[in-house]
Amino acid sequence: MYFPTFRSRRIRGKEVFRRMVRETSLSANDLIYPMFSAFGTGIRKEISSMPGIHQFSIENLVEEAQKVHELGVPAVILFGIPETKDAVGSDAYAECGIIQETIRALKKTVPDLAVITDVCMCEYTDHGHCGIIKDGDVDNDATLELLAKEALSHAQAGADMVAPSDMMDGRVAAIRNILDENGFENIPLMSYAAKYASGYYGPFREAAESTPQFGDRRSYQMDPANRREALREARMDVEEGADIIMVKPGLPYLDIVRDIRNEFDLPVAVYNVSGEYSMVKAAAANGWIDEERVIMETMLSFKRAGADLILTYHAPEVARILKRG
Ligand code: PBG
Ligand code: ZN
Repeated sequence: MYFPTFRSRRIRGKEVFRRMVRETSLSANDLIYPMFSAFGTGIRKEISSMPGIHQFSIENLVEEAQKVHELGVPAVILFGIPETKDAVGSDAYAECGIIQETIRALKKTVPDLAVITDVCMCEYTDHGHCGIIKDGDVDNDATLELLAKEALSHAQAGADMVAPSDMMDGRVAAIRNILDENGFENIPLMSYAAKYASGYYGPFREAAESTPQFGDRRSYQMDPANRREALREARMDVEEGADIIMVKPGLPYLDIVRDIRNEFDLPVAVYNVSGEYSMVKAAAANGWIDEERVIMETMLSFKRAGADLILTYHAPEVARILKRG
């Protein structure tokens, strides 16, 4: 089929045709909105590097979550900024910890909104690492116990799904076991399966106040150069009982999203992370790009790469655009 017998432009010539042959679609149902819950009251503090994204105290978070839900976004994922941090991240698994209280408040006011929790230690430890420190590095097996306790306490507070982001080996099995043993066998687990040690997390660490106080996360998060390893990581999580597997960050790792989509039959999620959001906002603020267009094109790229779900700080804007049509 070559020119002039075939002309690609025929089917592009009318908007109605373009709509009819569009290969990929995006729905508000695909979106998960990350939110930051801070200890205190009356807090609505914008993250300077993430215009439009705030740390909220619980009552403000609930109000905001309700609006986002009304736009058609089915789920939020929660990150906590506790009152106090310590070496073992006690607030992470405290019955009245910041996330546990936030879950209860959300479930009371917006019961139909799916509440997903990020399961990790870095927001709760004074050293900012994702687990317990032994000899200057995060100790894998000691950390598993705390992550399991944290996930269980989220489920007990009413979380609809848990999402471990720590990258310890064996954490999916550890969390699955403790949930099952305690009657939460129906709570799904979304694993951050292929999570890379990325510079794109910079603004998030301001938002979650979780910057490591020494070293970096390269001994547990993945090397950005590795592709086969992502399949290995995902396979481990699938075999340990993950229900959804995630790739993170998003745009710089679309090849990984596609690899994982091709290899597994589980739902695939992608995390459009803080740095990706900040870059769009900064360019838009300078008038260098058409923000709306770039956001929607970015979302489509995730779907085209094979993602079913998108965790994105753009979720409310995207839902609004989709609603407007
Ligand atoms: C915690 C966690 C991080 C993100 C999600 N969960 C940060 C990190 O690993 O340093 C990043 C999200 C973002 O940048 O938007 N483990
Ligand atoms: Zn962490």
